[in-house]
Amino acid sequence: MSFGAWAIGAEWGSVNDSESLAALHHAVDCGVNFIDTADVYGMGRSERLVAQLRRERKGEIMVATKAGRRLSPHTADGYNPKNLAGFVEDSLRNLSTDCLDLLQLHCPPAEVYYRPEVFGALDDLATAGKIRYYGVSVEKVEEALKAIEFPNVQTVQIIFNCFRQRPAELFFAQARKRQVGILARVPLASGLLTGKVTATSRFEAGDHRNYNRRGERFDVGETFSGVDYTVALEALDEIRRILPAGFTMTQLALRWILMFDAVSCAIPGAKRPAQVAENCAASDRPKLPADVMAAVASIYDRLIRPLVHARW
Ligand SMILES: NC(=O)c1ccc[n+]([C@@H]2O[C@H](COP(=O)([O-])OP(=O)(O)OC[C@H]3O[C@@H](n4cnc5c(N)ncnc54)[C@H](OP(=O)(O)O)[C@@H]3O)[C@@H](O)[C@H]2O)c1
Repeated sequence: MSFGAWAIGAEWGSVNDSESLAALHHAVDCGVNFIDTADVYGMGRSERLVAQLRRERKGEIMVATKAGRRLSPHTADGYNPKNLAGFVEDSLRNLSTDCLDLLQLHCPPAEVYYRPEVFGALDDLATAGKIRYYGVSVEKVEEALKAIEFPNVQTVQIIFNCFRQRPAELFFAQARKRQVGILARVPLASGLLTGKVTATSRFEAGDHRNYNRRGERFDVGETFSGVDYTVALEALDEIRRILPAGFTMTQLALRWILMFDAVSCAIPGAKRPAQVAENCAASDRPKLPADVMAAVASIYDRLIRPLVHARW
């Protein structure tokens, strides 16, 4: 279980840096040693909080960051050596380090996967000692499959959760074959799978769960996993009925992800220490029984698959 640092940067309503830092510290207390962030999360705010955490803690904390989403317009041409080098320098400064542990291309246009020179530029950054490893964050399974054809792509970050099951069909086996790490993002479907949302839940104006439900600002799949809110509530009612004793809804959702051996880590976002504690405890829960796995598959097949399966 790792930590996703988008929410502590921006776009999830109001956040408070001291609470965010407390959440990060609590993650380390719980054994987390890997954090996913991006240059664009609060334009450096998230990266700088992670840097502060690293200054305040002993022991190795690996940080994955991302580049590309500050491009405007966001085009394949923008993924050129000069821009990538500039983004890396900014992340090095924000993260107070001289080498990035893992740099991910941040959901680039699909065209980028047909441009070996982009991956050549990343190789050059590794040779120059600016980045240790690189990977990609993708929207679609097809992009993931294409990306891992490049031999030095070490990781793929992809949406994977009870409401987004397609990556497990083909991609996981291919990634394992090539020993590519998988970061399962949006593991709680933007908080839906915690079971706390209701038909009357409201989100702040500056929260993408308010302003991106139809993909107005970025890919709709990144908000609630692209699942219609009302259908999601129906599916959650069914999941609630199969909750094993000793699990919270959040823990069922996260433990479900860890049932897939190909997954290297889940990166739930969290804003508060209590959320981190609940999320991290999911990795100590027992394996899910076969009947629960079958029930989650059935709920997905009946209610969610028709809406999302073919899209991503
Ligand atoms: N394109 C990309 O590369 C991309 C896109 C999306 C995400 N990501 C990465 O993936 C990470 C995870 O995805 P995500 O943050 O979008 O979604 P998520 O992990 O599915 O949901 C995170 C949100 O759920 C709520 N939550 C978390 N733990 C909870 C708990 N125990 N109890 C109740 N509520 C809880 C919090 O929001 P509230 O408290 O406000 O409800 C939190 O911000 C991100 O942080 C980021 O690192 C990358």
